[in-house]
Amino acid sequence: MDKEKQQNTPFVTALEEYCKKNFFAYHTPGHKLGQGISAYQKKLFGSALTRDLGLMYALDDLFDPTGPLGEAMELAADLYGAGRTCFSVNGTTACIEAMILAVCGEGDELIISREVHKSVMNGLILSGAKPVYMKSRFAFDEQISLGPDLAELKRVIAAHPAARAVLFTYPTYDGVCVDLTVLADYAHEQGLVVLVDEAHGAHFGMHPGLPSSALSCGADCVAQSTHKLAGSLTQTSMLHCRRGFALTDKVVEAMSFVQSTSPHYWFLASLDSARQQMALEGHGLLERTLTLAAALRRKLNEIPGIVSFGKDILAKYGGLGGFDETKICIDFSGLGLTGAQAERLLRQEKIEAELTAGNHVLVLITLGDTVESVAALYEACLKISTICNEAEQNGAVAEIPLPEPVVRLSPRQAWQGETQLVPLEQAIGRIAAEPVLFYPPGIPVLAPGEEVTEACAVYIRKKTSEGYGAHGCADKTGKALRVIKRREK
Ligand SMILES: Cc1ncc(COP(=O)(O)O)c(C=O)c1O
Repeated sequence: MDKEKQQNTPFVTALEEYCKKNFFAYHTPGHKLGQGISAYQKKLFGSALTRDLGLMYALDDLFDPTGPLGEAMELAADLYGAGRTCFSVNGTTACIEAMILAVCGEGDELIISREVHKSVMNGLILSGAKPVYMKSRFAFDEQISLGPDLAELKRVIAAHPAARAVLFTYPTYDGVCVDLTVLADYAHEQGLVVLVDEAHGAHFGMHPGLPSSALSCGADCVAQSTHKLAGSLTQTSMLHCRRGFALTDKVVEAMSFVQSTSPHYWFLASLDSARQQMALEGHGLLERTLTLAAALRRKLNEIPGIVSFGKDILAKYGGLGGFDETKICIDFSGLGLTGAQAERLLRQEKIEAELTAGNHVLVLITLGDTVESVAALYEACLKISTICNEAEQNGAVAEIPLPEPVVRLSPRQAWQGETQLVPLEQAIGRIAAEPVLFYPPGIPVLAPGEEVTEACAVYIRKKTSEGYGAHGCADKTGKALRVIKRREK
């Protein structure tokens, strides 16, 4: 990384210089620098409205960046060690859709794990590619996915030698990293393109205490939510292609298919500014973040009935590539609480968590945290432990094995089919038109295009009888399912 150049913020500077010129606006957006906007928006956005400039070619073009925006993207590529970086104003969702569109064509096989983010399914529908599933290892004590391992990747590639590419989620939502170097090496040896959803890893590689970045592990193309853990505005992400990646131009072109032609300049300026912050101050900010997270985890583990795993998970399960210690998964089962119950109690203490599943609640410690914010969370957990310490311990909820997927149609074919909602019993033997998943394990029982087997129905009935709501589908009770309509004979 060129530290000298990283001091610059080419897009932010160009935007500020443009605003100083005080042009009369005869262009979109129609509110014209805030003059025609509602009183509420004026109050909310204030002087930032003068930077809502719409499509100003004076400030470069997101899809053909040759000026300050191009320079800003080059600086991002320099920081992350990419050959080419694209900015996204439509999150990592757009980046994932674009990379799948660029790499996979109609009928191509893309190897994925079942618990991929929804945007991967969008990418499959858009491209017409077919999913081939790797099974993830599941940590039963912690109730989290550990992702697939090398043996599983080898098994799937051997069964699908024509597969075009493989997509890994790195890290998982809970901060667990597959051994990406080993997996990417093997996939490359077999001629596959390696795509990575690094939505939760925009800070990776910026501090030695964090896992290595996906690019440094050998990925070809990586989607990162800068907004999640690297200090930019919500909705802003980056897509990186490794140096020399043959499909770079296609990926860049595909980014224009999935984003607005009117990108907001706040978002682009936010990415430029967040990149500069990460380059200049990232190490120090992450050092503080890691220290706060370590202290919090240590103190939480001192509270009777509460457990929060750390890097110990690596030795416990083996075969992993790292763990992001800023992700704090708090298991309340020792207090007789489910994650959902603990989340409600935390909310009473004004604590809003990232997510909840099974017996745990996931909280994130980021560069926005302080000694005070971490202390507030600790105090809330301590209070919950004193209220609930009389409760019966419920222990970990046993997970039942997921049924084997039986793929009948590609996600695109399923999307294009006519659908109907039928009672679960009548759905058996039909083709699902919607996904169904439960938390935990957060891994789909069914994905669109798959046969609803008897085993799927048994799993859905079991989970709903235990009080879990079904996700991804129209009927959260799991009593009815949207399936593909049968053709009239
Ligand atoms: C693993 C994973 N991938 C991709 C995404 C999509 O990211 P974005 O919200 O930036 O579009 C998310 C969002 O939560 C995610 O958790």
